[in-house]
Amino acid sequence: MKIGEILVDPPVLLAPMAGVSNRAFRAISRSQGAGLCTTEMVSANALAHRSAKSYWLMELDPGESPVGIQIAGSDPELMAEAAHQAEQHGADLIDINMGCPVPKVVKNGDGSALLNDEEGAVRVVQAVVQSVKIPVTVKMRAGWDHDAITAPQLAQRFEQVGAKAIALHARTRSDQYAKPANWQFIRQVRERIAIPLIGNGDVNTPEDAQRMLETTGADGVMVGRASFGDPWIFRRITYFLNNGRHLSPPDAQERAHMALWHLDRMVEIKGEAVAVPEMRKQLAWYLKGTPGSAEYRKRTQGLKLKSEAQALVQEWFDHARNEELTWT
Ligand SMILES: Cc1cc2nc3c(=O)[nH]c(=O)nc-3n(C[C@H](O)[C@H](O)[C@H](O)COP(=O)(O)O)c2cc1C
Repeated sequence: MKIGEILVDPPVLLAPMAGVSNRAFRAISRSQGAGLCTTEMVSANALAHRSAKSYWLMELDPGESPVGIQIAGSDPELMAEAAHQAEQHGADLIDINMGCPVPKVVKNGDGSALLNDEEGAVRVVQAVVQSVKIPVTVKMRAGWDHDAITAPQLAQRFEQVGAKAIALHARTRSDQYAKPANWQFIRQVRERIAIPLIGNGDVNTPEDAQRMLETTGADGVMVGRASFGDPWIFRRITYFLNNGRHLSPPDAQERAHMALWHLDRMVEIKGEAVAVPEMRKQLAWYLKGTPGSAEYRKRTQGLKLKSEAQALVQEWFDHARNEELTWT
C-alpha cells in the first residue's frame, strides 16, 4: 500500500494510542513487522502554547520511518501550524485525529466532534494539506452516533481536498468501546473513496485481519489493543495473509526478552520514576496467558524500581519455562 509516495509494507499498522504508542512501543512494533506506526495524539492547541509535553510527544527515534505524527484540533490555523512543526520533526506523514471520544477533547470541538461539523472538518484537512509537503491522512470514527454516520460523506470530501488515506475505526463516538466494531462502516467508506483505506476496530487475530480485508475492501488493517503485550501480532498477521498458515506464538523466553527490552527503552526515554509505574500494565500484559501467571501479573502493580521489575520478569520466566518444559 502506498500513501502518497510513502510505501507501507506490509499494510499492517500500529494504531495511534495515547499512553502507549510512544517511541519505545513504536520501535518494538516496527521490529515485529508493523508497516507504519503513528505517535500518540498531539494537541495543536497545547503546541500553540509551547507545551513541553507536546514537543516530547513529537520526538522520533533517529531513522524511525515510516512514521506518522498525529495531531488533534479544530482550528485550521493552529492545525496547519502543528502540521508544519510535525513535518519539521521528521514525520513521514501527518495524521489528523477525528476519532477521540474523550469529553475534554470533544468539548473543544476537536477529535470526534469534527464528525458533526462537515464544513469545519473539511477546512481543517484543507489547511493541513496546504501547510505541508508530506501526505496527510485522517483517522476517524464512523460518526457521532448511529443516527449520524457521517464518515462516508466526510471521507469523500477529505479526498477531494487532498487527503492521501483514511483510517476508519468502525465505531461511532457514542459507542465508545462498548460495542463490537461494525465493519460495514468500512465498506460504506470504501464505496466513496479511491485513496487507500485502512480498517480498524477489533482486529485481534490474523483471521480477523483477513476477514476485514476480504469483507470491507480495505487496503490495510490497523491494530490497537491486540498489540498490548503482543507486538508479535504484526508478524503473525502478515505471515498468515501471505501464507495462509500460522506462525507459532512467542515462547516464554521471547516474551521475557521483549518485556525487558520495552522496560529498558521506557526507562531510557522517560526515566525510572515515570517509566516503571507506566510499565506496570504493559508488563502484566507480557506475562499473560501462562498457567499460574496471575500471581506475577498482580505483583506488577507495586513496581517502582527497574531492578524490581527486572527481577519479577526473571522470576516469571523461570516459572513459565518450567511450565513449558512440563507441557512438552
Ligand atoms: C489506550 C488507548 C489510547 C488511544 N489513543 C488514541 C489516540 O491518541 N489517537 C487515536 O486516533 N486513537 C486512539 N485510540 C484508538 C485506537 O487508535 C483504535 O482506533 C481503537 O483502539 C480501536 O482499535 P482496536 O480494536 O484494534 O484496539 C486509543 C485507544 C486506546 C485503547
